[in-house]
Amino acid sequence: MKFLTLSQAPQLMPTVARWYFDTWGGRVPGHTFEDEQQRLEVFLHDNALPMLLIAMHDDAPIAAAQLKFHERNENLNRQHWLGGVFVCPQYRGHQLASEMIENLMQRASTHGVREVFLQTEHDDGGLYGRLGWEPLERQTHRTGVPVRIMRRVLPLAG
Ligand SMILES: CC(C)(COP(=O)(O)OP(=O)(O)OC[C@H]1O[C@@H](n2cnc3c(N)ncnc32)[C@H](O)[C@@H]1OP(=O)(O)O)[C@@H](O)C(=O)NCCC(=O)NCCS
Repeated sequence: MKFLTLSQAPQLMPTVARWYFDTWGGRVPGHTFEDEQQRLEVFLHDNALPMLLIAMHDDAPIAAAQLKFHERNENLNRQHWLGGVFVCPQYRGHQLASEMIENLMQRASTHGVREVFLQTEHDDGGLYGRLGWEPLERQTHRTGVPVRIMRRVLPLAG
C-alpha cells in the first residue's frame, strides 16, 4: 500500500473532505462541505505536524487518517490525537485502517511524539485496542455522542 500526506497531494483535499462530510458532517448543525474543506487546510504543509495521511490504490485515494492537535481547551497536556480515520466502504475489513494507522504512528514517532490519544464510539476500543491503545475515561463528544478516550504510548524513534 502506498501512502501520501495531504501536502504531497493537495488535489485530493475535496475527495477527503467529501468522505468526512458525508460520514460526520451532518452531526454538527450548520456545518457545510466548504467548512470541511477549510478544516483540512491546516494539513497543507510539508513534513510537519499536524499530518493527514492518504492511502492510495492504483493511484486512487481509498482511505485517510489524521494526526492532529486537539482543538478543545481541556486536557492541554493531551497534545496529539488520532482522528478522521476513514476507509472507503469497499475496502473495509482487510486491515487497511490498521496498516494506515501504524504507518502514521511511525511518522509521528519520528517527529518526537510520545503519546497519542483518540476518541471512539466503540466502547471496547475496536481495532484501536488491538493496535495498543488503552482505554481511559468515557466522555460526551460535543455532538452529544458518548465516546471512549484512549491513549497509546509510542516508542522512541531509533
Ligand atoms: C472504522 C474503519 C476505519 C475500519 O476500517 P478497516 O480497514 O475495515 O479496519 P481494519 O480492517 O483494520 O479493522 C477492522 C475492525 O475495525 C473495527 N471497527 C469498526 N468501526 C470502528 C470504530 N469506530 N472504532 C474502532 N474500531 C472499529 C471493526 O469492528 C473491525 O473489527 P473486527 O476485525 O474485530 O471485526 C472503517 O470501517 C470506516 O471508515 N468506518 C467509517 C468511519 C469511522 O467510523 N471511522 C472510525 C472513527 S473512530
